[in-house]
Amino acid sequence: MKVLVLGGGSDIAAATVATLQRRQPVTAIAAARDTDVAINGLSMAAPGAELIGRRWDALDINHHDSFINDVFDRHGAIDLVLCAVGRLGHHAGMAMTPADVDSMVRANFSGPAAALSSVGRRMAKQRRGSIVVLSSIAGARARKSNYVYGSAKAGLDSFAQGLGDALVGHGVEVIVVRPGFVRSKMTTGLDPAPFSRSPGEVASAVVESLGGGSRIVWVPGHLGPMMSVLQLAPRSVWRRVAGDR
Ligand SMILES: NC(=O)c1ccc[n+]([C@@H]2O[C@H](COP(=O)([O-])OP(=O)(O)OC[C@H]3O[C@@H](n4cnc5c(N)ncnc54)[C@H](OP(=O)(O)O)[C@@H]3O)[C@@H](O)[C@H]2O)c1
Repeated sequence: MKVLVLGGGSDIAAATVATLQRRQPVTAIAAARDTDVAINGLSMAAPGAELIGRRWDALDINHHDSFINDVFDRHGAIDLVLCAVGRLGHHAGMAMTPADVDSMVRANFSGPAAALSSVGRRMAKQRRGSIVVLSSIAGARARKSNYVYGSAKAGLDSFAQGLGDALVGHGVEVIVVRPGFVRSKMTTGLDPAPFSRSPGEVASAVVESLGGGSRIVWVPGHLGPMMSVLQLAPRSVWRRVAGDR
């Protein structure tokens, strides 16, 4: 199975490649800012997988189309594209400069979205494949502690759902995965939120979802019904629930 990971150093991506590799031989192309770090993480998580590093920065939006075309031209048909790029950052909210906000939005939304539109075109051409986009519970309703990240994830989530609809009839599925708190590099130093999960648990949900058609997958599953109620709660109630008072 051939997998392209956008954000190749991600802990959730490493766990996903490991879960896949336990089922069948995997070739993983890790698109990452630091390919050595990405390949090192993947090789420890998924021994035996064939690993290829490609330098890629989500912020270089003008290069995404040529990058994605080159990956598909060079490596042939890709079975799964996993979009695992993301930056929670040290959220300073109103103290962030316009440049900080722009960089967060490009890393979490416009960068991955630009790359995924090229991916969608190439997958439609090969008439098969799965695209998994790691969204977040943070995109379901913004909160004081991470509204720049959350609003960018909301944009990416919406983009991915639309891309999935656009690819109906082309043999390509788009699965939007919305984890809650995951104990990965991204959340190092933070107190785990309720219902926190490991990268391996998210990976299992990703792998189980493959082949079932375009849809939204919450991890853990009960966060879906829980958030559909909380999205309707008055803002003052939501602030208390989210701990933002
Ligand atoms: N951890 C959570 O609680 C959680 C919850 C919900 C959703 N998610 C989402 O799940 C995905 C994977 O996260 P994770 O938990 O596995 O965290 P992670 O290990 O920190 O992975 C995120 C990856 O994104 C890469 N990245 C950041 N900015 C980039 C850029 N400009 N260009 C290229 N790569 C860039 C990072 O690479 P560098 O090493 O170069 O920075 C890192 O490898 C992310 O989309 C995240 O938003 C995570």
